[in-house]
Amino acid sequence: MFLKNSKISRHLKVLLPDRRQDIFIGEDSASWIIEKLASSGYSGFVVFCDHNIANLYKNLLSEIKDKLEPADIILVKPTEANKSIEFLNLCLERCVKANLNRNGCLIAIGGGVVGDLAGFLASVYMRGIDMVFMPTTLMAQGDTIINKVAISYKLLKNVIGSFYSPVITVCDTNFLKSLPKKEISLGFSEIIKHALVYSQTFTKSLSGILSSSMSDWKTYDWDYLVYESLKIKSRLVEKDPHDKLGTHKGLSYGHTLANALEGLSNFNFRHGDAVGLGMRISGEISKSLGFLKKEDLELQNSLINAVVLPLKFPHSVNPDQVIDYLKRDKISINEQINLVVLEKIGKHRVVKNVDEKLVREVLETFLS
Ligand SMILES: NC(=O)c1ccc[n+]([C@@H]2O[C@H](COP(=O)([O-])OP(=O)(O)OC[C@H]3O[C@@H](n4cnc5c(N)ncnc54)[C@H](O)[C@@H]3O)[C@@H](O)[C@H]2O)c1
Repeated sequence: MFLKNSKISRHLKVLLPDRRQDIFIGEDSASWIIEKLASSGYSGFVVFCDHNIANLYKNLLSEIKDKLEPADIILVKPTEANKSIEFLNLCLERCVKANLNRNGCLIAIGGGVVGDLAGFLASVYMRGIDMVFMPTTLMAQGDTIINKVAISYKLLKNVIGSFYSPVITVCDTNFLKSLPKKEISLGFSEIIKHALVYSQTFTKSLSGILSSSMSDWKTYDWDYLVYESLKIKSRLVEKDPHDKLGTHKGLSYGHTLANALEGLSNFNFRHGDAVGLGMRISGEISKSLGFLKKEDLELQNSLINAVVLPLKFPHSVNPDQVIDYLKRDKISINEQINLVVLEKIGKHRVVKNVDEKLVREVLETFLS
């Protein structure tokens, strides 16, 4: 055991320019952090909790009420629409009414929607207050918030944001046991991405773990999977916290395509599904450009297949609509398509001005 009297098995320290983030991973770590916070000296707490988590984990909320006496508990319906200025406004009002001050702390419990919403609020409220995050989905654990939080403006996803990290993130892997299998698949998209772009070893290990196509997912060593995934993400963000050097451009592998597909579906196509399909398309482009070998592409696709992510985009669009989005993505400049491609497993590069005809040809095979 990592920390005395807890089941925390792993700890990552992330050193950022103006703060340090401690990430603890382990079963039952939620109760452990509540105990710690009770004697932490914060002036008060406001809790943001996913509406479904509040129903599923009533004991956890009772424990928080008893031990931390929060000034308010804001239940959040986890829809992308709630990552909005309008909902943020309502939350701000609640924090002000609760007299949350600069020495107070926000506690966020839920998936990425709650994390991003509470994280963005914490980053701007009183010019920034502390947040403790307890991510409850595989997506929000394996790709947890490290120095980036954002909400959306209308259909423009994640366009209002800050460089901000929770002071403490507690990945209690027990939460994953109540997730539907589909949410596990979605979360795996980012874990697979981290492996593909930065680590041959982790990719090999994932290939073994996923060889029975998730039939045994309830027995996975989640502490290991979340830790390996976050080790990659945290080291990259530490090297280039404000994404200025391009060091962590690889984290965008599949995402330029994913942003387009999510937007074209009015956000009905889930982020994890879009990342999975975005990696399939980007992998095919990487191969057509002469970078990625056939065997490496097959290995990538075998991982995406194993976690049952879509083979095709289920909404009716044509390649030109996707290309239009690609040209407007933040990675692309002057109407050119720029994409992160794989050179081989564990190595990526950014290719500028990718041939539009090639992109169109590849897209034809993935659009229904
Ligand atoms: N800031 C970042 O670094 C970062 C990283 C990844 C994702 N995100 C954002 O996160 C969002 C997606 O997050 P998500 O995939 O976690 O989705 P989500 O927050 O919408 O949660 C998905 C569903 O799972 C339910 N749920 C949550 N925990 C559960 C549990 N333990 N048991 C049963 N059900 C549970 C939720 O109620 C919801 O219905 C996107 O908006 C994405 O942009 C941000």
